[in-house]
Amino acid sequence: MAEFKEAPAGAPVATQVTVWLQNRFPTAFDAYRVHMSEYYAPKNFNFWYFFGSLALLVLVMQIVTGIFLVMHYKPDAAKAFESVEYIMRDVPWGWLVRYMHSTGASAFFIVVYLHMWRGMIYGSYKKPRELIWIFGCAIFLCLMAEAFMGYLLPWGQMSYWGAQVIINLFAAIPFIGPDLSLLIRGDYVVGDATLNRFFSFHVIAVPLVLLGLVVAHLLALHDVGSNNPDGVEIKARKDPKTGIPLDGVPFHPYHTVHDIVGVSVFLMIFTAVIFFMPEMGGYFLEYNNFIPADPLQTPAHIAPVWYFTPYYSMLRAVTDPMVNVLAVVVALAAVLAVLKGGLAGKWKIVVLVGAALVVVALKVFDAKFWGVVVMGVAVMVLFPLPWLDRSPVKSIRYRPSWNKILYGIFVFNFFVLGYLGMKPPSAIGTLVSQIGTMFYFGFFLLMPWWSRIGEFKAVPDRVTFKPH
Ligand code: HEM
Repeated sequence: MAEFKEAPAGAPVATQVTVWLQNRFPTAFDAYRVHMSEYYAPKNFNFWYFFGSLALLVLVMQIVTGIFLVMHYKPDAAKAFESVEYIMRDVPWGWLVRYMHSTGASAFFIVVYLHMWRGMIYGSYKKPRELIWIFGCAIFLCLMAEAFMGYLLPWGQMSYWGAQVIINLFAAIPFIGPDLSLLIRGDYVVGDATLNRFFSFHVIAVPLVLLGLVVAHLLALHDVGSNNPDGVEIKARKDPKTGIPLDGVPFHPYHTVHDIVGVSVFLMIFTAVIFFMPEMGGYFLEYNNFIPADPLQTPAHIAPVWYFTPYYSMLRAVTDPMVNVLAVVVALAAVLAVLKGGLAGKWKIVVLVGAALVVVALKVFDAKFWGVVVMGVAVMVLFPLPWLDRSPVKSIRYRPSWNKILYGIFVFNFFVLGYLGMKPPSAIGTLVSQIGTMFYFGFFLLMPWWSRIGEFKAVPDRVTFKPH
């Protein structure tokens, strides 16, 4: 046991209490030191670095408002819809808690998408931060599962039919699909059993995993240290006497105070939305969800909430002709790899046989199944990003100038896919989403090639920072 310290004689009560606690719970004080007052973060963080702390804020808000919602919500197909109406009309401040939670879901995705985007433009996923990124991608998956299951709970028309459409997609998986969708639903149609299991996952199972992943995400971050807009490793230049990075400042108070600016602006926008347009014109809460679920009446147009629509668009893009295009792309890629890839003889055969098997599989299984695959892979392709990006520099600031245009097109394309995913299918919409899907995958899968080409700028030794 560590030695007991004594508070100086006549010390103020606060000091005496602190010393008393230090003697009994030194781990907490060590954690504060390691993660706050002696965690040296780069001094050149810009506004993009607000989104991690904002994601934490929204996470806490979702948990707290969720706890209060559960006090009045009834996970029962016969009572769920009216219990939400009860919360909205009769529970004191219930409307606020519910809107904080429903708007919070969209805010979570906005903040997390911006946070991921920051990681992409500053190459924060590159060595040695690969694991932080991987934990982040796992968080993103959990967040999607959490939002999907949460949306079923109010038991409105969109809750019901959205779940119906998405769960039925699993049925398209060869061999195990029908049993898998039955397992998820707990019944042959979406019903009380589905609601109960989604409730259980939404309120406890997924949040627990999410919390664990966020802790791992932050511990891994604090082990290797934060990246910054210049992509310069601040640990490479330390004060020889103190061992403190020359471009680092203690996280507390410098960045905690800095983050308050982000929190203030965020809360201004967030509260404005909650008070004046909580449904955001049907984007955050779809109008059909104010109608109780009716298994006998399918809404004219079923679309997921905005944060899923880019992926939904990719799913719908996979029609029979698109499968043919994919088969041609796979065959051409294999031929290119064999002719130009510099592969050894054995690997050439592996590539050709592998590609032939994929082409056969593409033709054997239904386009609907490949749509599901494309949608899943669109998210999974984020995981290997640290290895797909072969650029010699991290930050976009020092990459070839045309990279900015490419990244700009990537965002524009993601928005277009998101927009198309909200609209009813049309011939032109399908064509555009097919082109968009090809671009999305091309961006990631060709990254090992394009991220190396062009003229890179010299990365400075120290971070660029102007005090203000
Ligand atoms: C609940 C969701 C999340 C929370 C609460 C969260 C929290 C944080 C926090 C507090 C930081 C440090 C501050 C900052 O750099 O902004 C951080 C850094 C980071 N996060 Fe997340 N994060 C979440 C999701 C994600 C996701 C989905 C990804 C990527 C797929 C991701 C990737 C990263 C990366 C690469 C860093 C290091 C950034 C750097 O050092 O430049 N995070 N995260």
